[in-house]
Amino acid sequence: MAVSSLLRLLFFFVFFVIFVDGQCLDDQKKLLLDLRSEFKFNSSVPHSIVNWNETGDCCEWNIVGCDDSGHVTSLDLNSGGISGIIGESSALFRLTYLSRLGLSRNDFTTSEIPNQFHRLPNLAYLRMSSSGFMGPFPSTLANLTELVELALSGNFLTGSIPSFHNCKNLESIGLSYNNLMGTLSHLHFQGLRNLSRLDLSGNSLSGTIPQHLFVLPSIDMLDLSNNQFSGQIKQISIVDHSNLGWLDLSGNRIGGPIPNFFFQLPNIFNLWLSDNLFNGTFKLNKIRSLTRLSSLTLSNNNLSVDTNNMSSSSYINVLHMSSCNLHDFPNLRNASYMSSLDLSNNRLRGDIPSWIWETEISYLDLSFNLLKGLKKALISPNFSVVLLANNRLTGAIPTFICNASLLGVLDLSFNNLSGSIPPCLINKGIVSQVLNLRGNKISGVIPDQFSSKCDLQTFDVSNNNLGGKVPMSLSNCKNLLVMNVGNNNLNDIFPCMLSLSLRILVLRSNRFQGDLRCSKSWPNLQILDISSNDFSGRLNFLNLSSLRGMMLQSPIRVRLKRSDSNFLGANSVYRNEVTLTVKGIEVKLVKIWPDFTSIDLSSNRFRGEIPDAIGDLTSLYLLNLSHNSLTDAIPRSLGALTELGSLDLSANKLTGRIPEELAKLTFLSVLNLSYNHLSGLIPTGSQFQTFSADSFEGNAGLSGFPLNGSFNNPHRFGPSPSDDSEPKDEEIEWGYVFAALGYVVGFGSIAWTLLCHRRLRERYFEKIEEVADKIFYERGRRRRHERRVRRREERRNGLRRHHH
Ligand SMILES: *[C@@H]1O[C@H](CO)[C@@H](O)[C@H](O)[C@H]1NC(C)=O
Ligand SMILES: *[C@@H]1O[C@H](CO)[C@@H](O)[C@H](O)[C@H]1NC(C)=O
Ligand SMILES: *[C@@H]1O[C@H](CO)[C@@H](O)[C@H](O)[C@H]1NC(C)=O
Ligand SMILES: *[C@@H]1O[C@H](CO)[C@@H](O)[C@H](O)[C@H]1NC(C)=O
Ligand SMILES: *[C@@H]1O[C@H](CO)[C@@H](O)[C@H](O)[C@H]1NC(C)=O
Ligand SMILES: *[C@@H]1O[C@H](CO)[C@@H](O)[C@H](O)[C@H]1NC(C)=O
Ligand SMILES: *[C@@H]1O[C@H](CO)[C@@H](O)[C@H](O)[C@H]1NC(C)=O
Ligand SMILES: *[C@@H]1O[C@H](CO)[C@@H](O)[C@H](O)[C@H]1NC(C)=O
Ligand SMILES: *[C@@H]1O[C@H](CO)[C@@H](O)[C@H](O)[C@H]1NC(C)=O
Ligand SMILES: *[C@@H]1O[C@H](CO)[C@@H](O)[C@H](O)[C@H]1NC(C)=O
Ligand SMILES: *[C@@H]1O[C@H](CO)[C@@H](O)[C@H](O)[C@H]1NC(C)=O
Ligand SMILES: *[C@@H]1O[C@H](CO)[C@@H](O)[C@H](O)[C@H]1NC(C)=O
Repeated sequence: MAVSSLLRLLFFFVFFVIFVDGQCLDDQKKLLLDLRSEFKFNSSVPHSIVNWNETGDCCEWNIVGCDDSGHVTSLDLNSGGISGIIGESSALFRLTYLSRLGLSRNDFTTSEIPNQFHRLPNLAYLRMSSSGFMGPFPSTLANLTELVELALSGNFLTGSIPSFHNCKNLESIGLSYNNLMGTLSHLHFQGLRNLSRLDLSGNSLSGTIPQHLFVLPSIDMLDLSNNQFSGQIKQISIVDHSNLGWLDLSGNRIGGPIPNFFFQLPNIFNLWLSDNLFNGTFKLNKIRSLTRLSSLTLSNNNLSVDTNNMSSSSYINVLHMSSCNLHDFPNLRNASYMSSLDLSNNRLRGDIPSWIWETEISYLDLSFNLLKGLKKALISPNFSVVLLANNRLTGAIPTFICNASLLGVLDLSFNNLSGSIPPCLINKGIVSQVLNLRGNKISGVIPDQFSSKCDLQTFDVSNNNLGGKVPMSLSNCKNLLVMNVGNNNLNDIFPCMLSLSLRILVLRSNRFQGDLRCSKSWPNLQILDISSNDFSGRLNFLNLSSLRGMMLQSPIRVRLKRSDSNFLGANSVYRNEVTLTVKGIEVKLVKIWPDFTSIDLSSNRFRGEIPDAIGDLTSLYLLNLSHNSLTDAIPRSLGALTELGSLDLSANKLTGRIPEELAKLTFLSVLNLSYNHLSGLIPTGSQFQTFSADSFEGNAGLSGFPLNGSFNNPHRFGPSPSDDSEPKDEEIEWGYVFAALGYVVGFGSIAWTLLCHRRLRERYFEKIEEVADKIFYERGRRRRHERRVRRREERRNGLRRHHH
């Protein structure tokens, strides 16, 4: 029975194929086989065309479609595991009957798209997204009058976008996340009556936005976000039947007032205007008439938002108004569909209204305001991210928060909270990912009640008045990545029980004592800061050779820099990549912060020699062993720490000569060997000459430049003293390091925002570099120089391309 119905099905299928598709013509088959021979294949991909062969009807090959007379009209090679190059004379351009071609999600990273598409005049559907194509945008695509859909998103295409006004059938254009430049003229997309979807986001397009884009008769989705569009958008009259539902202009430089017609679009659903230069006062009650509006973002403009008379019971779901000069809470009591509310960076004062907690909001950001009170309330169970950092909250942490049973992230850092940590925050595993209470006045002990199902990734209670011990039950948190209890009054031994997953461990400025002997170690540890405690014993109790997180990983470490105009503008040699899906396009992202690694053991009572094995930690940026009682010679193996930017061994009892190897550390910008018992000549080497005598003083036996008579030396190499505010005893700004490790510590939403919104990313990298530059100013200068050179080069290339 089952077999016969299967046979019937099979019969129908074969019948169908033969009926619809004619018998493959020989020349068409030959072209297909020729095409195959141009490519390389990943044989483990199931639909690979590797199975094509000389026998059989090519119209029956499952990814080929033919017309009645046996011409190949459609070819679906999406996700085909194909790599290689498409040449100008490729057999592809001789399949002249092709109307559908799919080449998305393959690997053509070294290939340009030949400008030969005019030879395929029947092409209607062309999909070549996320396949790594490079080179100039193929302008002859604009000669394809039959074109209905064009998808080239997520490649590395350069140059400008041709005007598609001849392609009257176009319905969908997706060119997002390439490196396209230039302006859009009044001809671009003019008269495309059927165009419903236009996505140009994530490029470097500039100039003003042509007004007619907003009134294309069929336009439904218009995404111009993350470009460099500027100027103002003038008021126009909107036709009643406008379909525009999705309008994303975020991340540009558009100024002037927000035009009124946005609020006359009857079907508007998503209106994203954040990260622009819109100015003036915006009355929020304008959205009252927009019954379909679900998502509105106005953050980071130059707006003053007036929330008076905002008594809407609208369907709004997402409302982001960060930096909107708000003085009062908008009345959203009746916005019962709200799920994401961002009012950060405003001037909200007073108490947080209790109705907020009764809404069904899941993402709430009120950080950077002037809020004082957290009134007792009934909290709805929907809250998953609650960010209240940098306000003026006083009193104890209210226990009503514990009723939010799905809380993933709770950030109360930098407030004026006192009292102790409510056990319910910890014992019920309420906060599942990030608990940040840093910078308050919290006292008492950390409750030893972490549940056996603890999934916490970041635990930060630093800069408070906590006493007692690190709770044993923290070992239940098997995925802990960040643990920061610095600047408290904890009195304990080294917390050997912490999970192996740990990346950042900060115990600084407490009263920890004992040695560092543990029966295990942390292969992923990147930052170890246990300075200013009472630790003792020998350093080789620490199993250095197991700290693989501090060793350079082979072979390439590429750092994405702020100035990389587009995070996709890099090719796939990147390691450490994460894949995200942005609006259905797969986007590869690189780890955004260099693997910042540091060891700070300063101001303890360590003794004995510095172990040779320290030279294995080849990715170390910062090593501080100062103010201990270390003896013997400085190990030569330190010369292997090629990434080292800051080395402080001062105020110990080190003897012998300074190893020549240290002079080869080209990135070294902070060196302090003062107050030891070092002797002999200071090695010569370009880098060493840039340090002042301070780096070496207090060593009776030491001589040579810069110690002897160097103070008035007019030929001092290296940086001029004016901008050398050498950081001393400066704490790393953990906030940024954490944010940088954002996606690692599971702060998903923030990492996502960062990576997808260019303006934010730029601002963020500025901040990050500020921190890094403070610590490694020399390297910073070098980087800035490289960047300037590269920018100049880019500009030159850009000009050259322009001339062609
Ligand atoms: C081939 O495809 C498989 C599965 O998609 C993938 O894991 C593998 O890395 C690919 N091989 C190459 C050489 O691209
Ligand atoms: C050619 O492909 C068909 C199926 O498409 C298969 O049955 C046949 O065995 C193949 N022939 C050779 C020589 O590989
Ligand atoms: C494409 O069309 C333009 C006019 O719209 C024409 O000048 C050009 O020659 C055409 N290119 C090709 C390759 O057919
Ligand atoms: C647009 O779409 C309509 C209806 O689907 C169709 O009849 C028409 O041919 C298409 N093309 C143009 C240029 O209007
Ligand atoms: C808004 O910015 C424009 C320039 O972009 C300026 O001319 C105008 O005065 C500004 N308006 C306000 C209210 O700041
Ligand atoms: C914002 O507007 C004010 C005046 O309203 C102006 O002084 C300021 O420069 C503007 N900021 C930006 C970034 O344009
Ligand atoms: C706003 O509300 C106040 C009183 O609540 C009222 O006097 C005023 O007319 C309202 N303004 C608008 C524009 O609705
Ligand atoms: C909320 O809605 C209720 C009934 O739907 C209404 O009585 C109340 O006035 C509304 N409140 C606000 C602030 O709009
Ligand atoms: C709040 O949570 C409930 C139950 O999980 C869910 O049905 C509801 O849709 C959520 N509300 C919002 C606004 O997400
Ligand atoms: C928490 O929820 C329980 C019921 O689930 C309720 O009895 C209790 O009063 C709530 N506590 C707070 C502080 O809201
Ligand atoms: C912090 O709270 C204490 C009382 O707990 C109060 O005396 C102090 O003024 C507050 N500080 C600030 C800056 O609000
Ligand atoms: C140090 O760690 C390495 C690698 O994890 C391990 O093989 C070695 O036994 C450890 N040494 C000691 C003394 O624990």
